[in-house]
Amino acid sequence: MAKILVTGGCGYIGSHTIVDLINNGFEVVSIDNLSRSQASILDGVKKITGKEIQNFEVDLSNDGELKSIYKDLKDIDGIIHFAAYKAVGESVEHPLLYYKNNIGSLVNILEASKALNIPHFVFSSSCTIYGNVQKLPVDENAPMGMAESPYGMTKQMGEAIVNDFVKANADHQSILLRYFNPVGAHYSAEIGELPIGVPANLVPYITQTAMGIRQELTIFGDDYDTRDGSCIRDYVHVMDIANAHTKALQYMLDGKMQQNCDVFNLGTGNGVSVLEAVASFEKVNNLSLNYKIGPRRQGDVVAVYADNSKAIQQLGWQVQYDLDEMMRSAWEWQKKLSS
Ligand code: WQD
Repeated sequence: MAKILVTGGCGYIGSHTIVDLINNGFEVVSIDNLSRSQASILDGVKKITGKEIQNFEVDLSNDGELKSIYKDLKDIDGIIHFAAYKAVGESVEHPLLYYKNNIGSLVNILEASKALNIPHFVFSSSCTIYGNVQKLPVDENAPMGMAESPYGMTKQMGEAIVNDFVKANADHQSILLRYFNPVGAHYSAEIGELPIGVPANLVPYITQTAMGIRQELTIFGDDYDTRDGSCIRDYVHVMDIANAHTKALQYMLDGKMQQNCDVFNLGTGNGVSVLEAVASFEKVNNLSLNYKIGPRRQGDVVAVYADNSKAIQQLGWQVQYDLDEMMRSAWEWQKKLSS
């Protein structure tokens, strides 16, 4: 049974990926310093899978702390590296915090992969690296846009660092996964997103508004050049994102890589507007959401959605969940959180 180290395993996408890995016969261990997550999320993983996941509460950006657990990281076949800060606004206010944490952690975990002879590495990247794209849907050959934030820059730099590492270490290989907009929760409502403070992202803000935690959703602009004036995004269920990680690891373990570093877009390929996302949430959960139209948000791209054909053809990835299920599961999770 292959054993996988998941960094950021107590986080939103990390915990859902652990569930999918276990469901597909992998053994998993986690490193998460709980600075932006809660260990209790692994209780939810256990309720779903029956498996107790060991988490090392280590700050990956602290070289000494990570080295202190090398002795415990035996027989690992691959690493999935999620651990990073991801709040766009916070990264603008505190750029050095983001460079120190996101880049420092990445360099240290890559060093560990070399020291521990762990040959397979999956890097959590983001469609944010494309910026404002000219041609839609966007495929993996699209050029990197100007990063809209230090957060986005850490993803662009991260991809370059991983690329350079595998070029210099031929016995290592890596897959970069560019997520579009991960939303929703496992259908059991045992795990889900735990936003910290006021949510910056649309779907947690929607669910908190519906729960009465937030007064009203503000839709940031309805005067864009789109079918209904609101911005278009590619919302993708977090469990579909999770399964893509399992597929990426299996692809490397099966020796199918055609080069040392490859990149895949993870989106549904469907562009959905903010107003359409709100309408889906209201319809599938049979409720009326309190929202208003406000000014545009700085840094928003007008429209972005994926050409996901490469992940489908090469990884054998299939999108299982539609927008309604994303919105249903997000609401079920919010109700569980608030119960
Ligand atoms: C989606 C749409 C907003 C909140 C960001 C990061 C990206 C990734 C996903 C980490 C936009 C609108 C939002 C609100 C709104 N994060 N919106 N009212 O900006 O596409 O992507 O999160 O990997 O890297 O950049 O996601 O959910 O913030 O916004 O109208 O209260 O919802 O304007 O059009 P975004 P988002």
